[in-house]
Amino acid sequence: MIRFGILGLGNISRRVAIGIKNAKGCLLVGGASSQIEKSERFKDEFHLEKAYGSYDELFLDPSIDAIYVCTPNSTHYDFIKKGLTHMKHILCEKPMVLSTQQLDELFDLAKDNNVFLMEAHKTVFTPLNQYLLEIIQQGTIGLLKAITAEYSHNVFEEHPDLNHWVFNSETGGCSADVGVYPIVFANAIANSPILKHCSEKLYIKDVLCDVGIRSQIEYENGVVATIQSDWLHTPKSKGSALIVGDRGSIQVDAFWKNTSATITTKEGSYTVVKEHVSEFSGQVEHACECIEKGLHESPVFGRNESKEILRVLNK
Ligand SMILES: NC(=O)c1ccc[n+]([C@@H]2O[C@H](COP(=O)([O-])OP(=O)(O)OC[C@H]3O[C@@H](n4cnc5c(N)ncnc54)[C@H](OP(=O)(O)O)[C@@H]3O)[C@@H](O)[C@H]2O)c1
Repeated sequence: MIRFGILGLGNISRRVAIGIKNAKGCLLVGGASSQIEKSERFKDEFHLEKAYGSYDELFLDPSIDAIYVCTPNSTHYDFIKKGLTHMKHILCEKPMVLSTQQLDELFDLAKDNNVFLMEAHKTVFTPLNQYLLEIIQQGTIGLLKAITAEYSHNVFEEHPDLNHWVFNSETGGCSADVGVYPIVFANAIANSPILKHCSEKLYIKDVLCDVGIRSQIEYENGVVATIQSDWLHTPKSKGSALIVGDRGSIQVDAFWKNTSATITTKEGSYTVVKEHVSEFSGQVEHACECIEKGLHESPVFGRNESKEILRVLNK
């Protein structure tokens, strides 16, 4: 049983807590916040053992095996390094870090300290997407040819004054915030290293970071993906993906969290449903399995998979 603590009790931490609580092989022990009142409320809300009034308390707790980092992108590197140095297994929210040098340094440190490190990409591990990968490999839609994936989310509606870390020009931006979802989905479905890509980030007046990314990716196995993501073209949040083979196709809306998809072949169309309570649970369960096996990185989503995202982001 892997004992987890959550570091940083902001926007995403509650959904992560539900994910950990519904994942097999682990226990959510407590949340760490810079404000003890926040972690006490978190403890009560999720019926937890402990409330940590500082991040250091969590790093120093010998009863904690693993830490799920839920802080702004610019803080990930330091918190991961500190966690690994305290011999904690780390699952860190996306984007883990934005430089391959930092990525290598952190994965090397995890190995040296005999602990596990993984970038949290829930999209790869939902029961639906795991099932889709399986049936694509079995040839249900024939030879895989093309993937189209898009995800737009209007952050300007939530933060009209542009006064939020997500607008940080170095570690924020739409590409790092939501662009990673279609990239990671396409990379996982294509299941092949990137051969080449042509990517363009979008910028508008008065916003320092990118507000979108478009990318054409060709994989070594010949599959081609078209990626689109922006903060502009939707009232709130919208996205879908189409996977095309030479004998059929798969349509999936909200591919980063969905439980159903439509499969079309010459025989007709049908819907598959793969339920989950939380789209965050699959990745947590996978991390726990890797930790139990004594691995330092995931064979499904490890250092190389994180690097493939950076190849597109850091064009
Ligand atoms: N997978 C997904 O679906 C998903 C969705 C949204 C966001 N995310 C990712 O999750 C991470 C956190 O996003 P969020 O939306 O939860 O952020 P947020 O609401 O801004 O919360 C971040 C929390 O981190 C802590 N923190 C530590 N250092 C900080 C600093 N220097 N500045 C501000 N806060 C700091 C604070 O917690 P305390 O006050 O408790 O100390 C804060 O509440 C990001 O990497 C983001 O990309 C993932």
